Amino acid sequence: MSSQPLNRARVEASIAIAKVIFRHFHVALPPFAQWTTADWDRAGPDYQEARDCALGWDVTDFGSNDFSHIGRTLFTLRNGNIHDPRYPKSYAEKLILDPEGQRAPAHFHRTKREDIINRGGGNICVQLTRTDAEDRPAKGTLAVVVDGCRRAIASGETVRLTPGESLCIPPRTIHQFWGEEGTGYRIDGVGYTVSGEVSSVCDDVTDNFFFADLTRYPVIVEDAPRIHYLCNEYPGVEAVAR
Ligand SMILES: [Fe+2]
Repeated sequence: MSSQPLNRARVEASIAIAKVIFRHFHVALPPFAQWTTADWDRAGPDYQEARDCALGWDVTDFGSNDFSHIGRTLFTLRNGNIHDPRYPKSYAEKLILDPEGQRAPAHFHRTKREDIINRGGGNICVQLTRTDAEDRPAKGTLAVVVDGCRRAIASGETVRLTPGESLCIPPRTIHQFWGEEGTGYRIDGVGYTVSGEVSSVCDDVTDNFFFADLTRYPVIVEDAPRIHYLCNEYPGVEAVAR
């Protein structure tokens, strides 16, 4: 395993490839996806909901120092904010770039219920593990619903989603998903798949539980100019709300 803290050049390169891949699969992004930091600074208070609900680009290695294997490039299209009554939206939607070889760390949520949707490219593998009463991984079976069809799987089993398929991940279910090797849309030797997440309101600060010493928003090494704000970097957003 390589060990290199996530740096700004890598963040910007990942956003650039995500724009290309999303466009390839005809997934249109809202105009602010293209905005530079200067555009955001000019936008003023009219866009405060976007900032306060952490919409936009989200690139993280979860503090793994191994972005190629443990990381994510996401775009949050909509969300509420459970810490702020001005934003009562109870649902959220994200797009996720799935380069071959990269996955988020195994995690679960105590409140969020999420559907993972294969939006195009190759297959998406979703590993699901049940938890016990103390939120530890547990053996046994669990029920999974794929596009409204319910079936029992063994805890720890991996479900494959082909393009267009989706499944529901209930709260307190440990999950990890990734693009299946060799099945994605290839650019420069890497296969890419796009997944979507439709969920209940998402609180990324307090509702992600990992099984290793990881963090949702790592410190990024500033080795190159910042073109885009990440969703946790907008100026003027109070830390308590994030
Ligand atoms: Fe999740």
